[in-house]
This record gives sequence, C-alpha cells and structure tokens, in this order.
Amino acid sequence: MSMAPTEKLTVKVASYMAEAKDVIVLELRDPNGGALPRFEPGAHIDMALPNGLVRQYSLLNDSRETDRYVVGVGRAADSRGGSVYVHQKLAEGAQLQISPPLNNFRLDPAAQSYFFIAGGIGITPIVSMIRWCEANGRKWHLAYAARNRQRAALYEEICSFGGERVHWHFDDEQGGYLQVGELVDGLGAGEQIYCCGPQALMESVQTAVAGCPDVAHFEWFSPPESTEPQPEAGSFEIQLQRSGVSFTVPPDKSILEVLEENGFSIPFSCREGTCRTCETGVCAGTPEHFDYVLSSQERAEGKSMMVCVSRSIDPVLCLDL
Ligand code: FES
Repeated sequence: MSMAPTEKLTVKVASYMAEAKDVIVLELRDPNGGALPRFEPGAHIDMALPNGLVRQYSLLNDSRETDRYVVGVGRAADSRGGSVYVHQKLAEGAQLQISPPLNNFRLDPAAQSYFFIAGGIGITPIVSMIRWCEANGRKWHLAYAARNRQRAALYEEICSFGGERVHWHFDDEQGGYLQVGELVDGLGAGEQIYCCGPQALMESVQTAVAGCPDVAHFEWFSPPESTEPQPEAGSFEIQLQRSGVSFTVPPDKSILEVLEENGFSIPFSCREGTCRTCETGVCAGTPEHFDYVLSSQERAEGKSMMVCVSRSIDPVLCLDL
C-alpha cells in the first residue's frame, strides 16, 4: 500500500498514551506549531510508518480543533506489522508523514437522529461524530461492544457524555457477541446508523438493515474476507474520453494497473476499494462496482467508480481521463 504521491503532511507525535488494554492514543501536531488542515467527523488519515507500511487511522478528537489530530491504535492480534510497530517502536517526538484528512464516513447533517454502533477500536471515528452531535445539539445514542471492560477505549470519555444514551456490551460479561437485530428494529423515523468495528459486527448490521440499506453507513478499513466464490472476471475495453486512447483490461488486471502500465498516474492509496482515492468519473458504460465506499445511490447513478477494484458490465467503458 502506498500514499497518493502529491499529498503529504509532516507531523510529530506530541504525546503517546496508553488508553486501554492494547490500545494507545497518539496526538499528532505540526512540528512548527502551525495549524493542520480541517477535518470532518468520521475522517481518517493515511499514516506512513517508518517501517514502510501505510495504515489508516480515524481522527477521534473534536473536528473544530485545528492544532492537532488524535488517533487511537488497537494492537491487532493478526497484525501485519502496522499496529505492532506503533505499539512497540513509535515514541513521542517521532516525525511521521500523513495524508490530509480524508472522509468516506460522512455524517448526514439532515438526519433527525444518529444511532452509532461501534466495536472495539471502531469507536474512534464514532467518538468524533458524538462530539459533533454534542456541539450541535443533535440527538444520538450508541451501542458499543468490546471483548471486556479493560479493552473498551475511551470508556471514561464516553461515560462523560451521558451514560443513559450508551448501551455497553462486554462479550465476557454478557457471554457472547452484541445482538444488533433488536437494537436496529427499534430504529426511529429519520434516524441514521453509523457503524465501525470488526467485520462480523458490520455484517450483522448489514443483515439487520437489509430491507433499507440507505439508513446505514459503514467504515471499512480493509475489505471483508469472503468465503463466497468470486465471479470470474472478463476482459473489457476502456476508452479515455479526454486523452482519446483505448486499452483492453484483461481478467487478471485492474483498470488502475492497465492505466499505470500505459503511463497514466492515477492517485491511489489502498488499492482495495476502501479509501476512495482513485475515484474516476464514468462518461459512458455501466461499471461493475466492487468497492466499499460508494453509497447505493452513487452506485445506481454510475457516474464514478474506484478503478483499483471495479470493472465493467458493458464491453466498453468510457472514463473521464
Ligand atoms: S485506491 Fe483506495 S479505493 Fe482505489
């Protein structure tokens, strides 16, 4: 994974705090004390770690703050090197390259109320959303699941917002996972769900809202693992409207790879359909979407696509490049 080449900020780790079991909180500031680009609740940054890995972390602080970004990092049991590095090697004073804040998990300001569902470290974007609700006098409630109390990041802070709006679930005390079905059944009119957490939790929410998917919004930091057999990909042609050239995309390559092979520099970050960096306009043809960021309305409109993973239903797809 690498960052889009043009967008980088340098920040320093101003503080490094143990927050809960296997969770640390990093406060990042401009090394010269300058202001940082603004962010919205739900936003994340791409962080380039000194060991060469790039990881995405949600901003958990108040989105009105411009002097710092605060992120929480859970130590993943199956870490591929990112969270272990942050937990074992990173220290106060270290300088890091990050992207400006990006947001694929936007709050709908028109919602009448907000139902947040968080699992584990997935609480981090949610807590920034709760701060926004508090600052703007908006109605919210939260279901927060963790394996046990020791692992519940930001526990005191969430309690300070008002305990009656929070449904706590600790797997070891309740003897199993959070059952979201009945919580979602009580959804009020005009209420929107925002969910971030482990794959099993997000999939159970997706199942619970299957009849009205537009009420729920998810933050995927990695594509869900699927046990379903994947459909066989076919080849198709892409026509680049502004450049006036065409290329064939074979079954074993993505549109992004074909564009790169032919000298086109498309911004990218995750290459997995989760970050929205490679979003490209569609002028004609019907994309076959495989990303995790477009809403169902955006999919139906078919005006843009993630060229790192998505393909074409039609034999020819015309892109705004
Ligand atoms: S590079 Fe992240 S969605 Fe395509």
